[in-house]
Order: sequence, then C-alpha cells, then structure tokens
Amino acid sequence: MKKQKILVARAIFPQVLTKLEEHFDVESNQPDTPWDKRKLAQMLADKAGAFTTGGERIDAEALAAAPQLKICANMAVGYNNFDVDAMTARGVLATNAPDVLTETTADFGFALLMATARRVAESEHFLRAGKWDRWSFDMFAGSDVHGSTLGILGMGRIGQGIAKRGAHGFGMNVIYHNRSRLSPELEAACKARYVSKEELLRTADHLVLVLPYSPSSHHTIGAAELAQMKPTANLINIARGGIVDDAALAVALAEKRIAAAGLDVFEGEPRVNPALLTVPNVVLTPHIASATVPTRMAMANLAADNLIGFLVHGKALTPLNPEVLAK
Ligand code: GLV
Repeated sequence: MKKQKILVARAIFPQVLTKLEEHFDVESNQPDTPWDKRKLAQMLADKAGAFTTGGERIDAEALAAAPQLKICANMAVGYNNFDVDAMTARGVLATNAPDVLTETTADFGFALLMATARRVAESEHFLRAGKWDRWSFDMFAGSDVHGSTLGILGMGRIGQGIAKRGAHGFGMNVIYHNRSRLSPELEAACKARYVSKEELLRTADHLVLVLPYSPSSHHTIGAAELAQMKPTANLINIARGGIVDDAALAVALAEKRIAAAGLDVFEGEPRVNPALLTVPNVVLTPHIASATVPTRMAMANLAADNLIGFLVHGKALTPLNPEVLAK
C-alpha cells in the first residue's frame, strides 16, 4: 500500500524521524530552515499529517491550502498555534503533548524562581565581568524562598507540580488562583489554598504564571496587576509570551516596583523586548522549560505516536478535539 505523506515542520531527533519513515512518506525540515506562512502552506498542500512544534500557525488560511490534511500533532503541551475551532470545522484532528513534560517543566519553574529570588544570573554576570573584589554585607542579597508565600496563577498539572515542590520541599505557604478550583483531594496533595486573583497578586512573595495563552489571557499581568504586587515580590513566567505585558514589566523592574522577574517566554519571541535586556533584575531564558533530553524525546515520540495512531490505526493518544475522531 502506498504510504501517506506527512510533513515534519522542524528538525527533530533522527530516531523519531526514522520511526515516522517506517509508516509514512515523510518530508522533513531537518536543516531547520525558517519557513514563512506561504512556505508552510506550500509544504502542507499534499500532506495527510503534520508534525508541528508549537511555532507553526495552523489556522483557516493554512487549512485552506491543505485539502488532504487530517491531523496536526504538536510537540508541545501548549497549542495556541492551532485554531482548534477551524481545525474541528474542517475535520482535522489536533493533538498536543501533555503529561510527559509536567515534572521537567515544574523543575524549571522552580529553577527560575530560585535563580530570580537569589539573584543567581545577576551575580554571575558581575563575577564574570571581574567586578568582584571584596565581600560586602548586602552584596546580591535577595529574597528567601523557604517559608515564603508561593502564588501560582494557573493550576493545571505543571502548576500543581510547582506547588508540591514549594510546599513539600521548601515549606512554602502555597496559594493559587485558577479558572476552576481544584478538588479538596488535589488541594490537600499540593497543600495549596484557593484565593482570588487580587489576593494572589497582593500577597505572593513569588508569583509563578502557568496558565495557557488564549486571547482572553492576553496581558493577564499588565501595569495594573504589577502595581498590586509587593515591591519585594518576584514574578516568574513559564506560561506563554503575551500573558505578561513585557513593556509594562520592564518599567516595573526598572522602577523597582517589584523586586525581580524570571522569564522563559516572551511576547513575539524569539524577539525579546529590548527594555528587558537593559534591566539587571531579570533572569532571561530562551523558552527551555521542557528542555531535557529525555523529556524532549518523550514529547517528540508522543507527537509521532499520535500521527501513527491516528493515520494508521484511527486512534490518537492525546486529542484536543476528539469530536473529529467520532466522525
Ligand atoms: C512549551 O512551551 C510547550 O507548550 O510544550
């Protein structure tokens, strides 16, 4: 039987590519050439499936150029690059890569929190620049993590992982806000207390953002929200660019209206608001929260297994619009 054609839109692990090639006629972007919208549409024109990584926008326009497309499998838990409604309307299955990255991403959220609170990046830059010539009583004095109040906005699987690390590992007082409240059992496991968004902003010493991006979460943290935070508070964003108003954050950091920030995601990334690059009290990382070799491998395998599962066996592991499967 003739193999179905699929597109792998970005470079991936060669082993995963080999696995896909056992089932499909694969066109891949292994050189990792940047493709614009037009090029992506052109590459999708004759494909039944696409392996995407979170950066490729699949909307009504892309779908119109891909009449044979049946599935897009994202190698990311976030899927704001998909217009899921348009995909469902066209009968195209969308899948993401949840669960396999939860603990790794929660580890990184905590790493960024620690680095921000204890001024790790700022002090390292100082040392590398040869500026360390003597001890002083308040040199890079930061804020405590143990025993402080950890606020979490967005209490999905990753938020819960961060809560557990904070409560059980560092004796933090954990508060959270989410669209829906967790069950009493989950709240007990996370030792987390549900509060209003206002209370979260007002009382957190460390506020970690882990909510999904959608037009309704755009600029969830802007100038008004930053103004409600304690001047000693730290803000950590491992969610998505666009959830924080980066320009407003740069001003708040420069004016020390909050103590510091740790950011793994940015509005319009890989571009970073130049004002953020000029303030010292921010730790900046290039969207690497899920980046360990085993986890990235697991994410790639899950996306590949969704493609194989659906196109070969009619079943997907992590569908976002399962109504398509029922059709
Ligand atoms: C990473 O940001 C992801 O959504 O997996």
